[in-house]
Amino acid sequence: MANNAITALSHAHLRGARFVYIAAVFAALGGLLFGYDTGVISGALIFIKREFGLTTAAEEIVVSGVLLGATIGAIIGGKAADRFGRRRVLLVTAAIFGIGALASAVAPSPAILIASRVVLGSAIGLASTNVPVYLSEVAPPHARGWVVSLFQLAVTVGIVVAYLTDYAFASVEGWRWMLGLAVAPALVFGIGMFFLPETPRWLVRGGHHEVAHSTLVRIRGLADVNLEIEEIKASLAQQGESGHWTDLLRRQVRPALVVGLGLAIFQQITGINTVIYYAPKILQAAGFNSASGAILATVGVGVVNVGMTILAMFLVDRAGRRPLLLIGIAGMIVTLGVLGLSFRVSNPSGQLAWIAVICLMGYVASFAISLGPIFWLLIAEIYPLKIRGLAEGTAATFNWGSNLIVSLTFLTLVEKFGASSTFLLYAFASVASWLFAYYFVPETRGRTLEQIEAFWRARHRVRQMAN
Ligand code: BGC
Repeated sequence: MANNAITALSHAHLRGARFVYIAAVFAALGGLLFGYDTGVISGALIFIKREFGLTTAAEEIVVSGVLLGATIGAIIGGKAADRFGRRRVLLVTAAIFGIGALASAVAPSPAILIASRVVLGSAIGLASTNVPVYLSEVAPPHARGWVVSLFQLAVTVGIVVAYLTDYAFASVEGWRWMLGLAVAPALVFGIGMFFLPETPRWLVRGGHHEVAHSTLVRIRGLADVNLEIEEIKASLAQQGESGHWTDLLRRQVRPALVVGLGLAIFQQITGINTVIYYAPKILQAAGFNSASGAILATVGVGVVNVGMTILAMFLVDRAGRRPLLLIGIAGMIVTLGVLGLSFRVSNPSGQLAWIAVICLMGYVASFAISLGPIFWLLIAEIYPLKIRGLAEGTAATFNWGSNLIVSLTFLTLVEKFGASSTFLLYAFASVASWLFAYYFVPETRGRTLEQIEAFWRARHRVRQMAN
Protein backbone atom coordinates (compact mmCIF):
# COMPACT_ATOMS: atom_id res chain seq x y z
CA MET A 1 0.00 0.00 0.00
CA ALA A 2 2.72 2.40 1.09
CA ASN A 3 4.75 1.33 -1.92
CA ASN A 4 1.85 2.03 -4.22
CA ALA A 5 1.41 5.46 -2.74
CA ILE A 6 5.09 6.25 -3.23
CA THR A 7 4.97 5.02 -6.83
CA ALA A 8 1.91 7.14 -7.52
CA LEU A 9 3.62 10.13 -5.99
CA SER A 10 6.80 9.71 -8.00
CA HIS A 11 4.78 9.32 -11.20
CA ALA A 12 2.94 12.46 -10.29
CA HIS A 13 6.29 14.19 -9.84
CA LEU A 14 7.38 13.03 -13.25
CA ARG A 15 4.23 14.41 -14.84
CA GLY A 16 4.75 17.69 -13.05
CA ALA A 17 8.40 17.89 -13.95
CA ARG A 18 7.65 17.00 -17.56
CA PHE A 19 5.04 19.71 -17.71
CA VAL A 20 7.46 22.35 -16.42
CA TYR A 21 10.10 21.32 -18.94
CA ILE A 22 7.69 21.42 -21.87
CA ALA A 23 6.45 24.82 -20.71
CA ALA A 24 10.04 25.96 -20.34
CA VAL A 25 11.04 24.85 -23.83
CA PHE A 26 8.15 26.66 -25.50
CA ALA A 27 8.56 29.82 -23.46
CA ALA A 28 12.30 29.79 -24.12
CA LEU A 29 11.57 30.07 -27.87
CA GLY A 30 11.13 33.75 -27.06
CA GLY A 31 14.85 33.71 -26.23
CA LEU A 32 15.67 31.96 -29.51
CA LEU A 33 13.93 34.74 -31.44
CA PHE A 34 15.80 37.34 -29.35
CA GLY A 35 19.14 35.72 -30.31
CA TYR A 36 18.21 35.14 -33.95
CA ASP A 37 16.78 38.58 -34.64
CA THR A 38 19.71 40.40 -33.01
CA GLY A 39 22.41 38.13 -34.50
CA VAL A 40 21.09 37.80 -38.07
CA ILE A 41 21.87 41.35 -39.09
CA SER A 42 25.66 40.87 -38.97
CA GLY A 43 25.60 38.69 -42.12
CA ALA A 44 22.60 40.31 -43.82
CA LEU A 45 23.93 43.84 -43.62
CA ILE A 46 26.44 43.62 -46.49
CA PHE A 47 23.67 42.70 -48.95
CA ILE A 48 21.15 45.20 -47.57
CA LYS A 49 23.77 47.90 -47.94
CA ARG A 50 24.44 46.87 -51.53
CA GLU A 51 20.75 46.67 -52.54
CA PHE A 52 19.69 50.00 -51.01
CA GLY A 53 23.05 51.81 -51.34
CA LEU A 54 23.10 52.66 -47.63
CA THR A 55 25.46 55.21 -46.11
CA THR A 56 27.40 54.19 -42.96
CA ALA A 57 24.99 56.20 -40.82
CA ALA A 58 21.98 54.44 -42.37
CA GLU A 59 23.75 51.13 -41.83
CA GLU A 60 24.15 51.93 -38.13
CA ILE A 61 20.45 52.79 -37.89
CA VAL A 62 19.45 49.47 -39.50
CA VAL A 63 21.57 47.64 -36.89
CA SER A 64 20.48 49.68 -33.88
CA GLY A 65 16.78 49.96 -34.84
CA VAL A 66 16.22 46.60 -33.19
CA LEU A 67 17.93 47.77 -30.01
CA LEU A 68 15.85 50.94 -29.91
CA GLY A 69 12.67 48.87 -30.36
CA ALA A 70 13.80 46.47 -27.63
CA THR A 71 14.34 49.35 -25.21
CA ILE A 72 10.78 50.56 -25.88
CA GLY A 73 9.37 47.00 -25.62
CA ALA A 74 11.10 46.49 -22.27
CA ILE A 75 9.66 49.74 -20.89
CA ILE A 76 6.12 48.68 -21.80
CA GLY A 77 6.56 44.95 -21.18
CA GLY A 78 7.04 44.94 -17.43
CA LYS A 79 4.00 46.98 -16.53
CA ALA A 80 1.91 45.10 -19.11
CA ALA A 81 2.97 41.75 -17.60
CA ASP A 82 1.82 42.77 -14.14
CA ARG A 83 -1.45 44.14 -15.48
CA PHE A 84 -2.51 41.63 -18.16
CA GLY A 85 -0.54 38.55 -17.12
CA ARG A 86 2.69 37.00 -18.38
CA ARG A 87 0.98 34.62 -20.82
CA ARG A 88 -1.20 37.18 -22.61
CA VAL A 89 1.73 39.52 -23.14
CA LEU A 90 3.79 36.63 -24.53
CA LEU A 91 1.01 35.76 -27.00
CA VAL A 92 1.02 39.32 -28.32
CA THR A 93 4.83 39.18 -28.38
CA ALA A 94 4.73 36.10 -30.64
CA ALA A 95 2.41 37.90 -33.06
CA ILE A 96 4.70 40.95 -33.22
CA PHE A 97 7.72 38.68 -33.79
CA GLY A 98 5.95 37.15 -36.78
CA ILE A 99 4.71 40.43 -38.28
CA GLY A 100 8.09 42.13 -37.75
CA ALA A 101 10.00 39.30 -39.45
CA LEU A 102 7.68 39.24 -42.47
CA ALA A 103 7.60 43.02 -42.83
CA SER A 104 11.39 43.32 -42.75
CA ALA A 105 11.77 40.48 -45.25
CA VAL A 106 9.56 42.18 -47.86
CA ALA A 107 10.59 45.78 -47.09
CA PRO A 108 10.68 47.76 -50.36
CA SER A 109 12.71 50.66 -48.94
CA PRO A 110 15.27 51.37 -46.19
CA ALA A 111 12.68 53.41 -44.23
CA ILE A 112 10.24 50.47 -44.11
CA LEU A 113 13.07 48.10 -43.25
CA ILE A 114 14.12 50.29 -40.32
CA ALA A 115 10.52 50.67 -39.13
CA SER A 116 10.01 46.89 -39.29
CA ARG A 117 13.21 46.29 -37.36
CA VAL A 118 12.03 48.69 -34.64
CA VAL A 119 8.72 46.76 -34.43
CA LEU A 120 10.64 43.48 -34.29
CA GLY A 121 12.84 44.97 -31.58
CA SER A 122 9.79 45.77 -29.46
CA ALA A 123 8.93 42.03 -29.49
CA ILE A 124 12.49 41.26 -28.36
CA GLY A 125 12.11 43.75 -25.49
CA LEU A 126 8.75 42.24 -24.50
CA ALA A 127 10.19 38.72 -24.60
CA SER A 128 13.20 39.71 -22.51
CA THR A 129 10.99 41.11 -19.77
CA ASN A 130 8.43 38.31 -19.76
CA VAL A 131 10.06 35.00 -20.60
CA PRO A 132 12.47 34.94 -17.59
CA VAL A 133 9.65 35.95 -15.23
CA TYR A 134 7.32 33.32 -16.70
CA LEU A 135 9.98 30.64 -16.27
CA SER A 136 10.92 31.65 -12.73
CA GLU A 137 7.28 31.63 -11.67
CA VAL A 138 6.52 28.12 -12.95
CA ALA A 139 9.81 26.44 -11.97
CA PRO A 140 10.24 24.52 -8.72
CA PRO A 141 12.82 26.28 -6.47
CA HIS A 142 15.50 23.58 -6.69
CA ALA A 143 15.55 23.75 -10.50
CA ARG A 144 14.75 27.44 -11.01
CA GLY A 145 18.33 28.35 -11.87
CA TRP A 146 18.60 26.08 -14.86
CA VAL A 147 14.99 26.44 -15.99
CA VAL A 148 15.35 30.24 -16.22
CA SER A 149 18.80 29.87 -17.78
CA LEU A 150 17.09 28.02 -20.64
CA PHE A 151 16.19 31.51 -21.80
CA GLN A 152 19.87 32.47 -22.13
CA LEU A 153 20.63 29.11 -23.77
CA ALA A 154 17.90 29.82 -26.31
CA VAL A 155 19.40 33.28 -26.94
CA THR A 156 22.82 31.77 -27.66
CA VAL A 157 21.36 29.02 -29.88
CA GLY A 158 19.40 31.70 -31.75
CA ILE A 159 22.63 33.62 -32.39
CA VAL A 160 24.40 30.53 -33.83
CA VAL A 161 21.38 29.60 -35.96
CA ALA A 162 21.39 33.16 -37.29
CA TYR A 163 25.12 32.99 -38.14
CA LEU A 164 24.60 29.67 -39.94
CA THR A 165 21.55 30.96 -41.83
CA ASP A 166 23.57 34.00 -42.92
CA TYR A 167 26.31 31.68 -44.10
CA ALA A 168 23.85 29.46 -45.99
CA PHE A 169 22.16 32.32 -47.87
CA ALA A 170 25.25 34.44 -48.44
CA SER A 171 26.05 32.91 -51.84
CA VAL A 172 22.64 33.96 -53.23
CA GLU A 173 22.71 37.30 -51.39
CA GLY A 174 19.44 36.16 -49.76
CA TRP A 175 19.07 38.76 -47.01
CA ARG A 176 15.28 38.65 -47.30
CA TRP A 177 15.33 34.93 -46.49
CA MET A 178 17.72 35.54 -43.60
CA LEU A 179 15.30 38.03 -42.01
CA GLY A 180 12.07 36.29 -43.03
CA LEU A 181 12.82 32.78 -41.76
CA ALA A 182 12.33 33.97 -38.17
CA VAL A 183 8.61 33.72 -38.83
CA ALA A 184 8.75 29.92 -38.31
CA PRO A 185 9.92 29.92 -34.65
CA ALA A 186 7.55 32.86 -34.01
CA LEU A 187 4.66 30.67 -35.09
CA VAL A 188 5.74 27.74 -32.90
CA PHE A 189 6.26 30.14 -29.97
CA GLY A 190 2.74 31.56 -30.42
CA ILE A 191 1.10 28.12 -30.67
CA GLY A 192 3.04 26.94 -27.59
CA MET A 193 2.02 29.97 -25.52
CA PHE A 194 -1.60 29.49 -26.55
CA PHE A 195 -1.65 26.09 -24.84
CA LEU A 196 0.45 27.03 -21.81
CA PRO A 197 -1.22 28.30 -18.61
CA GLU A 198 -0.78 31.63 -16.86
CA THR A 199 1.69 31.46 -13.94
CA PRO A 200 0.12 30.53 -10.59
CA ARG A 201 1.84 33.47 -8.89
CA TRP A 202 0.31 36.06 -11.21
CA LEU A 203 -3.08 34.37 -10.73
CA VAL A 204 -2.83 34.55 -6.93
CA ARG A 205 -1.71 38.16 -7.20
CA GLY A 206 -4.88 38.92 -9.19
CA GLY A 207 -7.12 37.06 -6.69
CA HIS A 208 -7.86 34.12 -9.05
CA HIS A 209 -7.21 31.59 -6.30
CA GLU A 210 -9.06 28.61 -7.73
CA VAL A 211 -7.46 28.80 -11.14
CA ALA A 212 -4.09 29.31 -9.45
CA HIS A 213 -4.68 26.18 -7.41
CA SER A 214 -5.63 23.99 -10.35
CA THR A 215 -2.77 25.35 -12.46
CA LEU A 216 -0.27 24.59 -9.73
CA VAL A 217 -1.68 21.08 -9.35
CA ARG A 218 -1.10 20.61 -13.08
CA ILE A 219 2.37 22.12 -13.06
CA ARG A 220 3.67 20.33 -9.97
CA GLY A 221 1.78 17.10 -10.63
CA LEU A 222 0.80 16.98 -6.96
CA ALA A 223 -2.66 16.84 -5.44
CA ASP A 224 -1.76 19.02 -2.48
CA VAL A 225 -0.22 22.36 -3.36
CA ASN A 226 -1.81 24.29 -0.50
CA LEU A 227 1.49 24.98 1.19
CA GLU A 228 2.92 26.71 -1.88
CA ILE A 229 -0.29 28.71 -2.41
CA GLU A 230 -0.31 29.76 1.25
CA GLU A 231 3.33 30.82 1.02
CA ILE A 232 2.58 33.00 -2.01
CA LYS A 233 -0.44 34.57 -0.29
CA ALA A 234 1.46 35.21 2.94
CA SER A 235 4.30 36.81 1.04
CA LEU A 236 1.86 39.03 -0.90
CA ALA A 237 0.20 40.10 2.34
CA GLN A 238 3.52 41.35 3.66
CA GLN A 239 4.27 43.43 0.57
CA GLY A 240 3.47 47.10 1.00
CA GLU A 241 3.83 47.79 -2.74
CA SER A 242 0.83 48.88 -4.77
CA GLY A 243 2.24 48.01 -8.17
CA HIS A 244 3.22 51.52 -9.30
CA TRP A 245 6.49 52.90 -10.66
CA THR A 246 7.09 54.78 -7.41
CA ASP A 247 7.27 51.42 -5.57
CA LEU A 248 10.65 50.86 -7.20
CA LEU A 249 12.10 53.58 -5.01
CA ARG A 250 10.71 52.26 -1.73
CA ARG A 251 13.37 51.61 0.91
CA GLN A 252 12.70 47.84 0.96
CA VAL A 253 12.90 47.49 -2.83
CA ARG A 254 15.90 49.75 -3.40
CA PRO A 255 18.71 47.23 -2.70
CA ALA A 256 17.17 44.75 -5.18
CA LEU A 257 16.69 47.55 -7.69
CA VAL A 258 20.38 48.48 -7.40
CA VAL A 259 21.40 44.84 -8.01
CA GLY A 260 19.17 44.56 -11.10
CA LEU A 261 20.14 47.89 -12.67
CA GLY A 262 23.83 47.42 -11.85
CA LEU A 263 23.98 43.99 -13.46
CA ALA A 264 21.93 45.26 -16.43
CA ILE A 265 24.48 47.97 -17.16
CA PHE A 266 27.56 45.84 -16.42
CA GLN A 267 26.30 43.01 -18.63
CA GLN A 268 26.56 45.40 -21.57
CA ILE A 269 29.37 47.87 -20.80
CA THR A 270 31.80 44.98 -20.44
CA GLY A 271 31.48 44.72 -24.23
CA ILE A 272 29.78 41.39 -25.05
CA ASN A 273 27.93 42.67 -28.10
CA THR A 274 31.00 44.20 -29.69
CA VAL A 275 31.98 40.54 -30.11
CA ILE A 276 28.51 39.15 -30.90
CA TYR A 277 27.73 41.82 -33.54
CA TYR A 278 31.22 42.67 -34.82
CA ALA A 279 33.43 39.56 -34.31
CA PRO A 280 34.39 39.23 -38.01
CA LYS A 281 35.49 42.88 -38.05
CA ILE A 282 37.63 42.43 -34.89
CA LEU A 283 39.24 39.31 -36.33
CA GLN A 284 40.02 41.03 -39.61
CA ALA A 285 41.57 43.95 -37.71
CA ALA A 286 43.77 41.40 -35.89
CA GLY A 287 45.07 40.01 -39.19
CA PHE A 288 42.56 37.42 -40.47
CA ASN A 289 42.93 37.81 -44.20
CA SER A 290 39.95 35.93 -45.54
CA ALA A 291 36.44 37.13 -44.77
CA SER A 292 35.10 33.59 -44.80
CA GLY A 293 37.78 32.49 -42.30
CA ALA A 294 36.70 35.32 -40.03
CA ILE A 295 33.03 34.34 -40.36
CA LEU A 296 33.83 30.71 -39.63
CA ALA A 297 35.80 31.70 -36.50
CA THR A 298 32.75 33.75 -35.51
CA VAL A 299 30.57 30.63 -35.75
CA GLY A 300 33.15 28.99 -33.45
CA VAL A 301 32.71 31.84 -30.96
CA GLY A 302 28.93 31.29 -31.11
CA VAL A 303 29.32 27.56 -30.45
CA VAL A 304 31.55 28.23 -27.42
CA ASN A 305 28.83 30.59 -26.17
CA VAL A 306 26.22 27.80 -26.38
CA GLY A 307 28.50 25.14 -24.82
CA MET A 308 29.48 27.24 -21.83
CA THR A 309 25.87 28.32 -21.24
CA ILE A 310 24.97 24.61 -20.94
CA LEU A 311 27.78 24.21 -18.39
CA ALA A 312 26.42 27.22 -16.47
CA MET A 313 22.93 25.66 -16.43
CA PHE A 314 24.40 22.50 -14.95
CA LEU A 315 26.28 24.42 -12.25
CA VAL A 316 23.91 27.23 -11.33
CA ASP A 317 21.71 25.25 -8.91
CA ARG A 318 24.69 23.32 -7.53
CA ALA A 319 27.50 25.85 -7.10
CA GLY A 320 25.15 28.83 -6.85
CA ARG A 321 24.92 32.18 -8.62
CA ARG A 322 27.71 34.07 -6.87
CA PRO A 323 30.66 31.69 -7.49
CA LEU A 324 29.80 31.50 -11.21
CA LEU A 325 29.47 35.26 -11.43
CA LEU A 326 32.78 35.97 -9.70
CA ILE A 327 34.82 33.31 -11.55
CA GLY A 328 33.33 34.22 -14.93
CA ILE A 329 33.87 37.97 -14.58
CA ALA A 330 37.48 37.29 -13.46
CA GLY A 331 37.92 35.37 -16.73
CA MET A 332 36.49 38.31 -18.68
CA ILE A 333 39.00 40.69 -17.04
CA VAL A 334 41.96 38.47 -17.97
CA THR A 335 40.92 37.77 -21.58
CA LEU A 336 39.97 41.40 -22.33
CA GLY A 337 43.23 42.56 -20.72
CA VAL A 338 45.34 40.18 -22.82
CA LEU A 339 43.42 41.12 -25.98
CA GLY A 340 43.89 44.83 -25.31
CA LEU A 341 47.60 44.47 -24.55
CA SER A 342 48.31 42.26 -27.56
CA PHE A 343 46.73 44.81 -29.91
CA ARG A 344 49.14 47.30 -28.27
CA VAL A 345 52.36 45.30 -28.64
CA SER A 346 51.92 43.74 -32.05
CA ASN A 347 50.71 44.68 -35.51
CA PRO A 348 48.00 42.79 -37.40
CA SER A 349 49.54 39.38 -38.21
CA GLY A 350 48.86 35.66 -38.20
CA GLN A 351 50.07 35.45 -34.62
CA LEU A 352 47.91 38.33 -33.34
CA ALA A 353 44.93 36.85 -35.20
CA TRP A 354 45.28 33.61 -33.23
CA ILE A 355 45.74 35.41 -29.92
CA ALA A 356 42.58 37.36 -30.77
CA VAL A 357 40.60 34.18 -31.55
CA ILE A 358 41.71 32.54 -28.28
CA CYS A 359 40.95 35.67 -26.24
CA LEU A 360 37.54 36.21 -27.86
CA MET A 361 36.59 32.59 -27.22
CA GLY A 362 37.86 32.75 -23.62
CA TYR A 363 36.00 36.02 -23.09
CA VAL A 364 32.71 34.72 -24.49
CA ALA A 365 33.11 31.49 -22.47
CA SER A 366 33.60 33.52 -19.28
CA PHE A 367 30.58 35.72 -20.07
CA ALA A 368 28.49 32.64 -20.82
CA ILE A 369 29.00 31.15 -17.35
CA SER A 370 28.44 34.42 -15.54
CA LEU A 371 26.87 37.73 -16.60
CA GLY A 372 25.06 36.11 -19.55
CA PRO A 373 22.64 33.74 -17.82
CA ILE A 374 22.88 35.07 -14.27
CA PHE A 375 21.74 38.60 -15.06
CA TRP A 376 18.47 37.35 -16.61
CA LEU A 377 18.03 34.80 -13.82
CA LEU A 378 18.54 37.21 -10.93
CA ILE A 379 16.24 39.91 -12.28
CA ALA A 380 13.50 37.31 -12.58
CA GLU A 381 13.84 36.17 -8.97
CA ILE A 382 14.90 39.04 -6.71
CA TYR A 383 11.84 41.32 -6.85
CA PRO A 384 8.60 41.19 -4.83
CA LEU A 385 5.70 39.61 -6.73
CA LYS A 386 3.55 42.76 -6.72
CA ILE A 387 6.08 44.64 -8.83
CA ARG A 388 8.05 41.76 -10.35
CA GLY A 389 7.17 42.52 -13.98
CA LEU A 390 7.67 46.23 -13.56
CA ALA A 391 11.04 45.91 -11.83
CA GLU A 392 12.28 43.24 -14.25
CA GLY A 393 11.19 45.43 -17.15
CA THR A 394 13.11 48.37 -15.73
CA ALA A 395 16.29 46.29 -15.48
CA ALA A 396 15.74 44.99 -19.04
CA THR A 397 15.23 48.57 -20.26
CA PHE A 398 18.58 49.61 -18.79
CA ASN A 399 20.16 46.54 -20.38
CA TRP A 400 18.86 47.39 -23.87
CA GLY A 401 19.66 51.08 -23.46
CA SER A 402 23.26 50.24 -22.48
CA ASN A 403 23.47 47.77 -25.37
CA LEU A 404 22.37 50.53 -27.76
CA ILE A 405 25.03 52.93 -26.45
CA VAL A 406 27.87 50.37 -26.60
CA SER A 407 26.89 49.15 -30.08
CA LEU A 408 26.66 52.70 -31.42
CA THR A 409 30.00 53.80 -29.95
CA PHE A 410 32.20 50.73 -30.48
CA LEU A 411 33.35 51.43 -34.05
CA THR A 412 33.93 55.11 -33.27
CA LEU A 413 35.96 54.25 -30.15
CA VAL A 414 38.16 51.86 -32.17
CA GLU A 415 38.62 54.52 -34.85
CA LYS A 416 39.51 57.29 -32.39
CA PHE A 417 41.46 55.46 -29.67
CA GLY A 418 42.40 52.13 -31.28
CA ALA A 419 41.34 48.55 -30.57
CA SER A 420 43.80 48.22 -27.67
CA SER A 421 42.45 51.10 -25.57
CA THR A 422 38.86 50.14 -26.36
CA PHE A 423 39.27 46.57 -25.08
CA LEU A 424 41.22 47.81 -22.06
CA LEU A 425 38.27 50.09 -21.32
CA TYR A 426 35.93 47.07 -21.30
CA ALA A 427 38.47 45.23 -19.08
CA PHE A 428 38.29 48.15 -16.67
CA ALA A 429 34.47 48.01 -16.70
CA SER A 430 34.78 44.28 -15.92
CA VAL A 431 36.89 45.04 -12.82
CA ALA A 432 34.15 47.41 -11.64
CA SER A 433 31.51 44.76 -12.34
CA TRP A 434 33.45 42.12 -10.33
CA LEU A 435 33.56 44.47 -7.34
CA PHE A 436 29.86 45.22 -7.76
CA ALA A 437 28.99 41.50 -7.85
CA TYR A 438 31.19 40.81 -4.83
CA TYR A 439 29.68 43.52 -2.65
CA PHE A 440 26.05 43.68 -3.79
CA VAL A 441 24.77 40.45 -5.35
CA PRO A 442 23.07 37.98 -2.94
CA GLU A 443 23.03 34.18 -3.30
CA THR A 444 19.54 32.94 -4.23
CA ARG A 445 20.25 29.26 -4.91
CA GLY A 446 17.66 26.82 -3.55
CA ARG A 447 15.39 29.45 -1.99
CA THR A 448 11.75 29.88 -2.97
CA LEU A 449 10.83 33.23 -4.53
CA GLU A 450 8.93 33.99 -1.33
CA GLN A 451 12.04 33.27 0.80
CA ILE A 452 14.03 35.66 -1.38
CA GLU A 453 11.40 38.34 -0.75
CA ALA A 454 11.61 37.64 2.98
CA PHE A 455 15.41 37.97 2.76
CA TRP A 456 15.19 41.55 1.44
CA ARG A 457 12.58 42.45 4.04
CA ALA A 458 14.72 41.04 6.86
CA ARG A 459 17.78 42.87 5.53
CA HIS A 460 15.79 46.06 5.53
CA ARG A 461 14.73 45.49 9.13
CA VAL A 462 18.34 44.78 10.18
CA ARG A 463 19.40 48.01 8.47
CA GLN A 464 16.64 49.91 10.23
CA MET A 465 17.76 48.49 13.57
CA ALA A 466 21.37 49.41 12.85
CA ASN A 467 20.45 53.03 12.05
C1 BGC B 1 22.71 39.54 -23.59
C2 BGC B 1 22.77 39.90 -25.04
C3 BGC B 1 23.90 39.13 -25.70
C4 BGC B 1 23.77 37.64 -25.43
C5 BGC B 1 24.99 36.89 -25.93
C6 BGC B 1 22.53 38.05 -23.45
O1 BGC B 1 22.47 37.70 -22.10
O2 BGC B 1 21.65 40.22 -22.95
O3 BGC B 1 22.93 41.27 -25.17
O4 BGC B 1 23.87 39.34 -27.10
O5 BGC B 1 23.64 37.39 -24.05
O6 BGC B 1 24.93 35.53 -25.63
